[in-house]
Amino acid sequence: MSFEFLDSPVLGIETSCDETAAAVVHGREVLSSVVASQAGMHARWGGVVPEAAARAHVEALLPVLHEAESMAGVRSQAIAVTDRPGLIGALSTGITMAKALAYARDLPLVGVHHLFGHLVSPFARFQDYDSPPPVPHLCVIVSGGHTEVVLVRGPGDLEILVETIDDAAGEAFDKGARLLGLGYPGGAELERLAKPGDPTRYSLPIGVRDDPRHFSFSGLKTAMLRLVEREGESLVRQDAAASLQSAIVEALASKVEATLERVSCRGVSLAGGVAANRSLREALSIVSARNGCSFHVPPMGLCTDNAAMIALAGSSMLARGMRDGLDLDASATAKLNEA
Ligand code: KG4
Ligand code: ZN
Repeated sequence: MSFEFLDSPVLGIETSCDETAAAVVHGREVLSSVVASQAGMHARWGGVVPEAAARAHVEALLPVLHEAESMAGVRSQAIAVTDRPGLIGALSTGITMAKALAYARDLPLVGVHHLFGHLVSPFARFQDYDSPPPVPHLCVIVSGGHTEVVLVRGPGDLEILVETIDDAAGEAFDKGARLLGLGYPGGAELERLAKPGDPTRYSLPIGVRDDPRHFSFSGLKTAMLRLVEREGESLVRQDAAASLQSAIVEALASKVEATLERVSCRGVSLAGGVAANRSLREALSIVSARNGCSFHVPPMGLCTDNAAMIALAGSSMLARGMRDGLDLDASATAKLNEA
């Protein structure tokens, strides 16, 4: 069964971590997508501070909502909001706003799993991107909090085939970046540093190579720490960055390839903030082509946390008759399966 979307405007709200976001979609079309990032604020502390995140959402939410709705220029007919997983205080700000709007405007409300949002993002029509993946396809979700390879057989038929047993891929980039003295979050800076580097100079572990169902990135962080300590002043930072990036990309690409060999699907999509990484995109597009699959990666504005993906995911849920009441609540953890 393919993905269907509601044929009317849906407002999406996302506040699960450190971006305050609102967006309006109509069908697959993204009419507006506004994101206020708190990354600069959290960078001071080297990570997201939950209490500060919730307070910043409260401040940013109304202006972000107004901007998204006025840019879209239409009246939203339903409201979708991220309700899980994430920081409880942060999630609650978005949920409270969504409930108030649904009540005041008498509109249907639906709570969306954050990862289901990432998973649906490649279906969007946005700027010059219009490349919905076939169903079934394999969706590779790589972000600061999650690393999952999901077989998407249909909107309510998802199977997690590979997941991480410890750190997420983005976390591996961020921790490596920190060891190399880069800012937080460090993925993009690490990619920049790695560009002229030699990825073969330092050997770093790929992690649970023989286990087809799991990724493991925590060994990489330890190996990086040892490398930095051992080499001291003589460390060639760009080569260390390139070696780390290559180990992460190799871990992801090899497991995606092994998965493609055991399931039958016609496409691969890539979502989440780490999808910004050029070397990962290249590796996965090669793996996809080699296995007769099309490759789909939405523009970066839809890969990093945003509300268009939540509106879109909510639209697909509403199209299937799913609704939530005003008792909708936040949940810190939740598995992505039946979304
Ligand atoms: O999806 P996202 O915006 O937020 C979460 O849901 O976590 O992902 C953020 C993650 C961070 O770990 C960040 O370092 C990473 O995506 N990231 C990158 C790049 N740009 C962002 N990692 C590698 N290379 C990049 N160019
Ligand atoms: Zn995310």
